[in-house]
Amino acid sequence: MHKPLLDVLKGGHAASPPIWMMRQAGRYLPEYRATREQAGSFLNLCFNPELAAEVTLQPLRRFGFDGAILFSDILVLPHALGQTVAFEAGEGPRLDPLVDASGLSRLAASLDEAIVGKVYEAVARIHEQLPAGTTFIGFCGAPWTVATYMVAGKGGDDQVAARLFAYRDPQGFARLIDIIVEASITYLLGQIRAGVDAVQIFDTWAGVLPADEFRRWCVEPIGRIVAGVKAAAPGIPVIVFPKGAGLRLKAVVEGTGADAVGLDWTADAGFVAQSIQPNVAVQGNVDPIALLAGGEALDRAVDATLEAFGRGRLIFNLGHGILPPTPIAHVERMVARVRNWKA
Ligand code: CP3
Repeated sequence: MHKPLLDVLKGGHAASPPIWMMRQAGRYLPEYRATREQAGSFLNLCFNPELAAEVTLQPLRRFGFDGAILFSDILVLPHALGQTVAFEAGEGPRLDPLVDASGLSRLAASLDEAIVGKVYEAVARIHEQLPAGTTFIGFCGAPWTVATYMVAGKGGDDQVAARLFAYRDPQGFARLIDIIVEASITYLLGQIRAGVDAVQIFDTWAGVLPADEFRRWCVEPIGRIVAGVKAAAPGIPVIVFPKGAGLRLKAVVEGTGADAVGLDWTADAGFVAQSIQPNVAVQGNVDPIALLAGGEALDRAVDATLEAFGRGRLIFNLGHGILPPTPIAHVERMVARVRNWKA
């Protein structure tokens, strides 16, 4: 059966753009909150294939999205490399921090199969139950973004710790990045073997680096992941989301070999339409705060994305994840407006 989102990733064009949302399985949905309660904790939910499949499918039932994203987290990878990862209620992730290269010896040489095997099992279950026509997206974090959490031990504005490590000991930091690159290739190929149609690499903190560091720690390592995936799984499209990249999106497209790039809501429409979209598909980029606000502000944000990119290869999405307090009616309103739009 024809999959509109996959078609756009492979170079095709849709009259009305395919749509999904980053973090579409999440706390804004009462059915998600109920399943998470049943699982006990966020990581239990990630490693329970039956429940992870259930929460992946929940937003499709409600909104009929064109894409399903595997329910998991980018921090499953450091966990499977032996770093202690926990999610504290209301506080976000906590890891046992790797402040310098001496901590690298604590990491395992390969991914723990008992852990990633649960993720692959969830993928296989979702693949079986997926509505025809829905594109199934697997994912990992980009090496730079994953490293910021591994080094700081937490999220927030603490990419300082990773930047400091990288300036003080670039060779040691490069070893950490190399470990993440190799593990990410293995991890994405495992997801592909289990049944995903495409993969997305999330570089949430790409926007904080100076030019040289951006090339070295964001573009080049992502390029190696894309090449590794393409070598073993030709024909599987790769979406790269370098949040905050701005004009450096061009360097991302040229340096990584991505089939599509994710845009955050600050992306310059003229620049992207002229210099990016002719070469790759774009995905985005409604401000999640406009979705939270709803009403005419939301309509204007939806129209701005459609008018700027809808006549080219566009996968309609948010510019980052949906926020937990977002009303479901606002998502319904956005989906209806996108479905009714014609190029
Ligand atoms: O629906 C989906 O998009 C698929 C699942 C998904 C999650 N996290 C589930 C999740 C995906 C693709 C991610 C990616 C992720 N995780 C990123 C990159 C994209 C981004 O959002 O910037 C990052 C940086 C993380 C790390 C992470 N995970 C943080 C900082 C947090 C805490 C913040 C928060 O929202 O609570 C998480 C937890 C997390 N990951 C939740 C979900 C649904 C909330 C957990 C809960 O139910 O309490």
